[in-house]
Amino acid sequence: MDFSATQIKQIRQETTGTKHVIHFNNAGAALMPDAVRDAMIGYLQHESMYGGYETEAIFNIQREHTYDAIAELINANRDEIAIVGSATNAWHSAFHSLNFSAGDIILVANASYATNYISFLQLQQKIGVVIQQIPNDEFGQVDIRALENMITTEVKLIAITHIPTNSGLINPAEAIGKIANLYGIPSLLDACQSVGHIPIDVKAIGCDFLSATGRKYLRGPRGTGFLYVNQSWLTKGIQPPVLDLHSAEWVAKDKYILRKDARRFEVWEGNRAAEYALGLAIDYSLSIGMERISERLRALAATLRDKLTEIEGITVHDIGKRKGGIISFSVEGKTKQAVQKHLAQHKINVSLISSNGTLLDSQSRNLSDDLVRASVHYYNTTTEIEEFCKVIKTI
Ligand SMILES: Cc1ncc(COP(=O)(O)O)c(C=O)c1O
Repeated sequence: MDFSATQIKQIRQETTGTKHVIHFNNAGAALMPDAVRDAMIGYLQHESMYGGYETEAIFNIQREHTYDAIAELINANRDEIAIVGSATNAWHSAFHSLNFSAGDIILVANASYATNYISFLQLQQKIGVVIQQIPNDEFGQVDIRALENMITTEVKLIAITHIPTNSGLINPAEAIGKIANLYGIPSLLDACQSVGHIPIDVKAIGCDFLSATGRKYLRGPRGTGFLYVNQSWLTKGIQPPVLDLHSAEWVAKDKYILRKDARRFEVWEGNRAAEYALGLAIDYSLSIGMERISERLRALAATLRDKLTEIEGITVHDIGKRKGGIISFSVEGKTKQAVQKHLAQHKINVSLISSNGTLLDSQSRNLSDDLVRASVHYYNTTTEIEEFCKVIKTI
C-alpha cells in the first residue's frame, strides 16, 4: 500500500512545483502533474494553429475519456456525469433544479459552506423553505442519530458538505446516504474537498447528486468541475435551471426535448483544453490508487497536526473522528496574514480561513478569524513538514 522513497521521488520529479515551493495549499488548488500541464498547453497550441472547433473534433476521443475517468473515480456511469466550470456551478445547477415549496425543510450540516448556505437562505427568502441544522456528534461530525430523528414528511433535501473547507473533518457520507435512502429523501453531497482526497463511491454513499472541483485534490486545472446525477433523476426528467441547445433540443415551435444523459446540466461552451486535462489528472490519481493517495496524505496530515500541537503558542482547531488532509491552526498573538506572509517568505504556501466561509461552525465553536489552513497532499513529504515546523517556530 505504502509508497517507496523512489516512488515519491518520481512523483515529485513529475511535479515541477515541488522544486519551487512547499505547497501546503492543496485544498486551495494542488500542483498539477507536469504531464497534465503539458497536455493542456499542447491542446491550446493546437487550437491556436488549427482552430478551436477543429481541435475539438480531433481531440474528441480524449475529451470523451474525461467522462470515463470521472465515472471510474466515483463508481458512476459516464451518462451520469456533467463536466462544468466549478464545484459551485455543479452544486447550484443540481440544487436549483429541485422544486421546493413553502414549508419544505432542507437539512444541512454545521460545516455548511458559505456559497451553499447563501443559496439555502435565498430560497428561504424567495419561497419560504425552512433550513434546519443537523447537530454535531461528540466528534464534530454530522450526528447520524439526530439526523434520523429530524426526518419528517416535510424534509425535501439533505445537503451536506463532505469535507469542509477547513477543520480536518470528514463527514460520514455513507451513513447519511443510508438515512436519506431509507426515508426516500433526495441528497446532495458537496464533495468539492473530498474528490481526489479520499476514495468516493457514489453507489456506496447512495447520494442523488454530488458536486466536485478539478483544481483541488484531483490536481486538475482551474476552471473545471463536475456534477454526478443519479440515473433515476435523469429518467424522471429533472430540469436544470439553465438550458441551452446542448442540454436540450429545440424540435418544434413550442417544444424542446431534454438530453437523456447528465450532460443536460452542461452548457455548450466550455474550456475544452481544461476538460481534456482534467481527465488526465484523474488518470494520474487512478494510476496511483485513491486508497494509497488518501492513506498517505492523511498520515502526513496527522504528523503535521501532532507536530504543530507540540509547538508552544500554536493551537490546532481540527474536529472529526476520521480526519483528512486539512489542518486549521492559529498562532498566538499573530494575525493569519502575518503567519501566511512569514511562511511565504520561506516559500511555503498556506491559505487563510475566513470565519464566514463556514459561519455555523465558526460561531458554534467560537473560533477566531485568525485561522490558517495548511493542506497536504500525497506528494508532500515529512521533510517538508519538518521544514514547515522549523519555520513556524521562528515567527
Ligand atoms: C466545501 C466547498 N464547497 C464548494 C466550494 C466551491 O468550489 P469552487 O470554487 O470550485 O466553485 C469550495 C471551495 O473552496 C468548498 O470548500
